[in-house]
Amino acid sequence: MPAPEPARREAERLRQEIRYHDHRYHVLDRPEISDHEYDQLLRDLQELEAAYPELVAPDSPTQRVGGEVLPGFASVAHRVPLLSLDNAFTAGDLREFDRRVRAGVDGEAVEYVVELKIDGLTVALHYEAGELLRGATRGDGRTGEDITANLRAVRSVPLRLRRPAPAVLGVRGECYLPLEAFERLNAEAAAQDQGLFANPRNAAAGSLRQLDPRVTASRRLDTFIYNILYIDPPEAMPATQWGTLERLGELGFRTNPHRRLCSGIEEVIAHCEEWASRRESLPYEIDGLVVKVDSLAQQERLGARSKSPRWAIAFKFPPSQVVTRVTDVTVQLGRTGALTPTAILEPVRVAGSTVSRATLHNEELVREKDVRIGDWVVIQKAGDVIPEVVRSLPERRTGNEREFAMPTRCPECGAPVERAPGEAAHRCTGSDCPGQRREAIIHFASRDAMNVEGLGDELVARLLQEGLVRDAADLYHLGYEQLVGLERFGPKSAQNLLAAIDRTRKNPLRRLIFALGIRHVGERAAGILARRFGSLAALTRASAEELTAIREIGPKIAESVIAYFQRPDAPGLIDRLEAGGVSTAESSGAVLAPAGPLAGKTVVITGTLASLDRKEAEELVERAGGRPSGSVSRKTGYLVAGESPGSKLAKARELAVPILTEEEFLRLVQARDDGAGDDGAGDK
Ligand code: IVH
Repeated sequence: MPAPEPARREAERLRQEIRYHDHRYHVLDRPEISDHEYDQLLRDLQELEAAYPELVAPDSPTQRVGGEVLPGFASVAHRVPLLSLDNAFTAGDLREFDRRVRAGVDGEAVEYVVELKIDGLTVALHYEAGELLRGATRGDGRTGEDITANLRAVRSVPLRLRRPAPAVLGVRGECYLPLEAFERLNAEAAAQDQGLFANPRNAAAGSLRQLDPRVTASRRLDTFIYNILYIDPPEAMPATQWGTLERLGELGFRTNPHRRLCSGIEEVIAHCEEWASRRESLPYEIDGLVVKVDSLAQQERLGARSKSPRWAIAFKFPPSQVVTRVTDVTVQLGRTGALTPTAILEPVRVAGSTVSRATLHNEELVREKDVRIGDWVVIQKAGDVIPEVVRSLPERRTGNEREFAMPTRCPECGAPVERAPGEAAHRCTGSDCPGQRREAIIHFASRDAMNVEGLGDELVARLLQEGLVRDAADLYHLGYEQLVGLERFGPKSAQNLLAAIDRTRKNPLRRLIFALGIRHVGERAAGILARRFGSLAALTRASAEELTAIREIGPKIAESVIAYFQRPDAPGLIDRLEAGGVSTAESSGAVLAPAGPLAGKTVVITGTLASLDRKEAEELVERAGGRPSGSVSRKTGYLVAGESPGSKLAKARELAVPILTEEEFLRLVQARDDGAGDDGAGDK
């Protein structure tokens, strides 16, 4: 049935509204509505498009992430070559560059734009009639790989340009992984006992070269666009680099705000020196600055060498690397049995903290880098998080160094160590390895999983050693008498631990699923599974078809979920979790809403809260049965006002919406545990 006109108009209206909010959120960093409201808009559009498939346009916001896994990447010839840059390492190099530039423009005055040099991957985007048609990697500068499907999944890449858009446009920029996303990705990889990415750049490269765009979408990549490669009509080309950046912003691209127009090379040098120390304050990595001649007419006169333009240069920062000695190489056992070689170092300070161990990732890398026990090595902090060994210094060897050998038996249980074909990691094959069991419980109790406060690595090891627990479910059957019997464990510690365990019994299902430590199931996948299946029982019964039918779940995760629940110990574990009072069904939303203290109420949060971030506060609202919202209206149930509230507070007053302080809000949402009837919060 053809879509009726009102449906067509509504779809277009929704698309425009979503694009507007995408731009506010991903490009301007200034969202206007809550995530919840955004999701609602997207859902409305999805429903409409499902009812009338002909309304689906390729540039619809619902079409960012394709569902198909690609067989490989096609190659694309770039319309204009993507040059790279010559490097400068000192102020002298910059002065030399300036001298050549001025000679090249017959001594005219030259202005420079200085930009941050983002440590990511070059990407080229091609638009026609305002629509994104192709995205490619740089490749060798002439031919790159077609990664359109993956770049569409990067939220700051506009699928459609803001108007008025040129007929044809090619732009160049950098795709990168913000540090926070990198840390989260590696934490998830560690929690899933997988290999870690060495630095954000590698992680970004790995994410962009995924054959499954859903994986790319989950990685939270971002972009900064800095160059117009070609434009039609040609008169639309701005006259300067500064103007280019402004025009790119107007067209809807994300541009980097840290840019500066300098009127001479000395100003450029001062600016570069300032950034060498400021770089640590950025939420992403930069490896230097790029100095560009501002005038495009001058750029044209200067031209290019075979690989790099004469009008630009990269000023590179020295990396934060230090030299120290490897005193030992040990292996670290993960909860699924992976054994990771780890260098034990003579402690050194690098990039602001003391480092005494560094990951060597896997045996192959130890060979490749030729790291021996006793070696002097260069280490660096990648993304200022995980220290890694860059290379060894064989010239400093004395002859007493020893080569590392991967143990053939697990250091914890003695079972044979094996390496599965196609995998980099060696694994302990023991089916009952105490080390794996310890790591599994540590993961279960960790902050992002069940969050059992106070149950750290050492205490887990002791509980296991004393035979008080064998797996995570046993935690929920621990008694006070057993705990006070432990050496150096007083009544207070016992009570605290039991209370901390008790607080996790009502955790949302997604936390429990993540805590089980199913391989490849990170926090995100756990959330998706919880929402889709609603209970652990339903998840254990899920078939591979049901699992892979979920948009974000690929065959690897599906296989691993099924294998987990087929393990002989799985049913027992789940039974004992349930018997121990752990909630194994989704408790938020529909089930609790009618009973929650905020049932049916819309809650707007404004200003900064002292004890919660915005997301946590919104989660509390949802758990109490309410709906978080970003804008105040007559229908708003409560406004929660934190520090320095904005115009929303005034609006709430005007509309006589009840206003809560943070303390009142917390009391109100916690009322659920104390039973109904407690109206602790003052309804003003
Ligand atoms: S301009 C001809 N600007 O650095 C224009 N490059 O070492 C050349 N990069 O391949 C590029 N941030 O991937 C430019 N603001 C920026 C940049 C930038 C990062 C990268 C780019 C390039 C590499 C050169």
